[in-house]
Amino acid sequence: MNAYDLAGKRAIVTGGAGGFGVGIARALLAGGASVELWDLQEPALAAACAELGGKRVSARVVDITDEPQVERAVSAVAEGGRIDALVNNAGVLGEVKPIWETSPADFRRVLDVNLVGSYLVARAVVGRMLAQEAAPMRGHVVNMSSIQGKEGMPLAGAYAASKAALLALTKTLAKETAREKIVVTAVTPAAAETAMAKLISPERRAEIEGRIPAGRFVEVDEVARLVAWLCTDDCSFSTGGVFDISGGRATY
Ligand SMILES: NC(=O)c1ccc[n+]([C@@H]2O[C@H](COP(=O)([O-])OP(=O)(O)OC[C@H]3O[C@@H](n4cnc5c(N)ncnc54)[C@H](O)[C@@H]3O)[C@@H](O)[C@H]2O)c1
Repeated sequence: MNAYDLAGKRAIVTGGAGGFGVGIARALLAGGASVELWDLQEPALAAACAELGGKRVSARVVDITDEPQVERAVSAVAEGGRIDALVNNAGVLGEVKPIWETSPADFRRVLDVNLVGSYLVARAVVGRMLAQEAAPMRGHVVNMSSIQGKEGMPLAGAYAASKAALLALTKTLAKETAREKIVVTAVTPAAAETAMAKLISPERRAEIEGRIPAGRFVEVDEVARLVAWLCTDDCSFSTGGVFDISGGRATY
């Protein structure tokens, strides 16, 4: 894997104990960044730190839907120095059912994590980024959306809606910070072999794979490399950009 230049940068990766989270952290570390992993589950965070190894990884139990927790965690990270990159990666799939069979409580939970949680973390982190020197950039925010947010997806109404809303949030925040040397982007991966893929039936899996012209799921490292580049200062004029990584599935 090529490493991008992230020497001396400090990054937060939410959902950092999950499949994409660990892969993204590995790519950021390879570029020389220090990475703080946030997740709900302490044992999984400890396992992720052990897997990644080294002094430049730290971890914190943070529920991104809990505003006071997010504020406290961002303050604690900011006390240690700049926050150069935020990867808003935590997310949940929710029920795999047609909308009329889903529970409103589950719909709200998915929106709460994937959209409101990402908003809370971005809100807190961008406030700090605005106060720091541009060197040459003030910071990068990468939001983990999904191809399902661009296309909609049967049996994933809450998930697809949350990921579409995250794209609108990305573009809005990008426009608000475009003159502040903060770059806000989103990525829209196709399905990958993470814990999330284990939540679906073999039939559903085959259906999803059949939608990908490349004929396979995306590798975690393929997504991680793209995200790492989006966190570098070479990514300086793509704010508001939505980066496709769907093996040809996306039509726009
Ligand atoms: N796996 C895929 O096929 C796929 C495709 C496109 C996009 N995505 C997106 O990628 C992101 C990462 O997913 P993944 O595939 O690595 O799944 P994953 O389940 O392995 O990881 C998600 C992580 O988010 C954490 N999390 C959930 N709710 C949280 C909360 N309230 N606060 C903090 N952490 C929380 C979980 O504990 C878990 O470790 C998600 O946003 C997902 O929607 C996944």
